[in-house]
Amino acid sequence: MTATISSRLLDWYNDHARHLPWRAPPGEPRPDPYRVWLSEVMLQQTTVAAVTPYFAKFTKTWPTVEALAAAPEEDVMAAWAGLGYYSRARNLVKCARAVSEMGGFPQTEAELKKLPGLGDYTAAAVTAIAFGERAVVVDANVERVVARLFAIEEPLPGARKAIRVKADGITPDERSGDFAQAMMDLGATICTARDAKCLLCPLRDPCEARKTGDPLRLPVKAAKKPKPSRTGTAFWIEKDGAVWLVQRPGKGMLGGMRALPDDGWSARKNGNEDAPVSGAWKAVGVVRHSFTHFDLELGVAVHAGNASAPSGEGDWWPVSQIEDAGLPTLFAKAARLVLAAR
Ligand code: ADE
Repeated sequence: MTATISSRLLDWYNDHARHLPWRAPPGEPRPDPYRVWLSEVMLQQTTVAAVTPYFAKFTKTWPTVEALAAAPEEDVMAAWAGLGYYSRARNLVKCARAVSEMGGFPQTEAELKKLPGLGDYTAAAVTAIAFGERAVVVDANVERVVARLFAIEEPLPGARKAIRVKADGITPDERSGDFAQAMMDLGATICTARDAKCLLCPLRDPCEARKTGDPLRLPVKAAKKPKPSRTGTAFWIEKDGAVWLVQRPGKGMLGGMRALPDDGWSARKNGNEDAPVSGAWKAVGVVRHSFTHFDLELGVAVHAGNASAPSGEGDWWPVSQIEDAGLPTLFAKAARLVLAAR
């Protein structure tokens, strides 16, 4: 009898699992649901390399879900700065508070899905990895591996349904958490987007894409629309060695994050009519940042002279400690530009 896909993959995982701080190695007791949930939220749209230092910082500062639930939201937002997709951080706090009130994480996929910010993917990952219950976990790596394994020709995102059905078909009843993480490891190290190291792959025999001779063709992706561009201006207002920072509104881009005041990024205006103080402004340059749905070119204007109190709410933050302000990457780049221009 030929080995099943899951047994081939789990055998491979026993020897080749990546050692990651949120994981229990194969054969060891299951990891803490808090650490699994936190890592899976961080890992959405974000690489293992980027997540690792944030995971260390979060688990050191807030070692339990109760500790995270008790943290002020602005501290969590500041600790998240640089990781992107900031609605994840707002939902993280909401979810930690709900779980803490319930006395712990619910242990079924259906109950997990009811928690704030916990979508299909995270609920499945926590169910399988932390609770050892069968769940079908499909992230971008798994999508690629499955599309190749079964030579699914339909382009993404339309192929998601077919991919899920195939992923369900190969997910084992036992060790579905290890199976999911093995698929992720295979996608991250062997069956990557740009390379397919088929000779090293435990699934080379059953793989349909390998038989076609061109596994890299899959998954087919629908042509992307070009990203629109936006422009805007951020304002640097300084007084007595401190810079004026605001908190962005809870909803919308970079919601809830500390930031430099700006003009809303709708269009670069010639004057500085949206600035929170009047006076003379000096343009120091432009920073570029790519968001999921648009590219932004943000001009940075420095207030010349000693500023009066700006309108609206905000705080003076010591310029010498700007790296600790928890600015999201866009505004951290703008701050560095100002300081480099001195
Ligand atoms: N990406 C998302 N979840 C992951 C995990 N548990 N291990 C490795 N990469 C991942």
